[in-house]
Amino acid sequence: MNPHENNALHILHVLSAIVAIGTIFYACAGTPETRKKTLIWSGIAGLLLLLTGIRLWQGLYGFAGGWAIVKLVCWLGLAAFAGLAYRRREKTSLWITLTVVLTAVALAMVYLRPF
Ligand code: HEM
Repeated sequence: MNPHENNALHILHVLSAIVAIGTIFYACAGTPETRKKTLIWSGIAGLLLLLTGIRLWQGLYGFAGGWAIVKLVCWLGLAAFAGLAYRRREKTSLWITLTVVLTAVALAMVYLRPF
């Protein structure tokens, strides 16, 4: 992978992570009219996060490293929360707690790479 692609993927990956997580927090407080737009942005950011992550994993590590699989599992959870937050408003604090926990796990995986 050339350095330009590497830099572009890192920037897009982290930007889409920020947007994807932001949409979950918005979904926890937004009115029902905001649902469609928020879920569209959540979907776009989530897809970009996944695709850039997989390309980085392939390009930098040749799909080696269990830590990336843990990140995939974290992504799976995060991908569901914006939709859930609109449907199950009474559980807002659960969605926020789980979002913070899964994000912390994903960050620990990429910075510590324990396995
Ligand atoms: C769950 C949400 C995710 C968050 C919050 C997240 C966060 C991050 C951050 C902050 C970095 C930059 C690390 C750095 O260069 O300092 C990164 C890099 C990376 N992420 Fe993610 N990520 C997520 C999902 C994923 C997914 C689903 C994959 C795919 C398996 C993935 C694979 C990678 C890879 C391979 C790198 C490059 C590591 C390196 O530069 O050595 N990430 N991620």
